[in-house]
Amino acid sequence: MKVLGLNAFHGDASAALLADGELTAAVEEERFNRAKHWAGFPRLAAQACLGGEAVEHVAISRDPWAHFWRKIARLAVSPRYWGKAVHRARNSLRVAWLASYLTPEAQRAQRIHFVEHHRAHLASTFFCSPFEETALVSIDGFGDFSSVMWGVGRGNRIDLCGAVHFPHSLGIFYTAFTQFLGFPKYGDEYKIMGLAAYGEPRFVRQVREVVRTTEDQVRLNLDYFIHQSQGVDMTWENCEPVLGTVYSRKMVDVFGEPRVPRSEIEQRHADLAASVQAELEENYFELLRYVQRRTGQKTLCLAGGVALNCVANGKIFENTDFRDVWIQPAAHDAGTSIGAALYVWHQVLRKPRSFVMRHTHWGPEYSTAETQRALRHAGLQYRDLEEEQLIDETARAIAEGMIVGWFQGRMEFGPRALGNRSILADPRRKEMKDTLNRRIKYREPFRPFCPSILAEKAGEWFEIDYPSPFMIMAYKIKPAMRGRIPAVVHADGTGRLQTVDRDVNPLYWKLIKRFEELTGVPVLLNTSFNENEPIVNTPAEALDCFLRTQMDVLVVGPSLLRKEENLALSHTRQASATSP
Ligand SMILES: [Fe+2]
Repeated sequence: MKVLGLNAFHGDASAALLADGELTAAVEEERFNRAKHWAGFPRLAAQACLGGEAVEHVAISRDPWAHFWRKIARLAVSPRYWGKAVHRARNSLRVAWLASYLTPEAQRAQRIHFVEHHRAHLASTFFCSPFEETALVSIDGFGDFSSVMWGVGRGNRIDLCGAVHFPHSLGIFYTAFTQFLGFPKYGDEYKIMGLAAYGEPRFVRQVREVVRTTEDQVRLNLDYFIHQSQGVDMTWENCEPVLGTVYSRKMVDVFGEPRVPRSEIEQRHADLAASVQAELEENYFELLRYVQRRTGQKTLCLAGGVALNCVANGKIFENTDFRDVWIQPAAHDAGTSIGAALYVWHQVLRKPRSFVMRHTHWGPEYSTAETQRALRHAGLQYRDLEEEQLIDETARAIAEGMIVGWFQGRMEFGPRALGNRSILADPRRKEMKDTLNRRIKYREPFRPFCPSILAEKAGEWFEIDYPSPFMIMAYKIKPAMRGRIPAVVHADGTGRLQTVDRDVNPLYWKLIKRFEELTGVPVLLNTSFNENEPIVNTPAEALDCFLRTQMDVLVVGPSLLRKEENLALSHTRQASATSP
């Protein structure tokens, strides 16, 4: 029996497919239409998941009827909210008429299920985790009028215990300061997390006035916000969503003039970011400690956009009594397509559990014949190598300081590239961060690059030896080791690590292992394969990115290309990419 899960008409639209309770495919729409955080209907993603096959159930991670009376009450007290409410109602109608958007094979489904947003988040983490019984927490900006939901998962059941409703939200608190600090785009919150490491939290006292969590109740000081009265706009700039301003004039009165986007970052901006991160953590841990006390559980499953805060996640063990944590790698809204499908399978259809998510490689893959067709079509010089030689040459190129594009197997689902659509470099070279930014990524200089490490070596290099397979935890790197991998050490001494298990991604594990044999360091710098765009999906997109940027080597399946052997083509592509 098949269940198609959808996150539609919401940021990071996505689709996922379950076959007899096992996840078989999951992909974001942005990977196909190349529009970051796409918020429409995930038509291409659904087609890719289904591959022309029929499904019995369709599940969407949104319920137009959830908290209906709360929404009506909000309209009654905030007349200025009406304009945004019309937009929201239009999206709700689209959800209600979902069948009209579905492909013919999905239209024949026996039933369409509307799964409340946070139930989908909770299902996306619990039903993918290895835990039989655990505390569950979902925290985000908003979804279906809630921003927090928590409960207990047992076997194939989720029992809800508490929630926080609109207008209060820890996610909106973080978004407000993200906007204030000059990062207005949807999903920019991680930039504040990166910037925080460069500041001193000297504004904590003032920031504490903005949000307070008591037990499980997050409370915003609404004097600092306008979303409760005016709603939240979403507009588009160069195909990227931009959220309307959510903070009020009071924010300016207390914290001074907001930073103009793309203007210089001053120390006070970093200090404010550090204060906001400190306050987020204070509230996050207050909530988690309460959930731990109330449930008595020692294990925790997390999801929701706030659970992508890897700096806070890395401190859960020292700040709570939880002893095991599993976080959905697509903790943001893309992951709710998986959650909606799993919720229907277990909670609605009452099927037993059999699935554990150990990797994120749920997207499309391309055969060697397809990748080689793309290489020939582009007129590129390349060599096909046996696996051992491919790994040896690639590891040597990285050790020599080259930047390598690494395209293998199925594309990752979620925000991180984890060894299948990655750009790899030598973490031992201090200058590598600047080199990568200058030659390929053009990112803000305060954002860190991250390490992939052999799972069995993590305890030698990091102060916490707990699996982090999805790059969703930042741990302190041991002081003695920091000097050996300076390109992946953040300003606060942490690294947002990916622990790579041999049985989960054998090819990537072998590459890191070979690098260790050559250099004594079982770590690679791993960043996503893209240049200011969604992560590449097809071989053609990988080739285009390789030729357009100053990448040195590209490995596509068994084929290895060197830029120096394809210089003429590269120059042509770079010239056309920079011409007006
Ligand atoms: Fe969400």
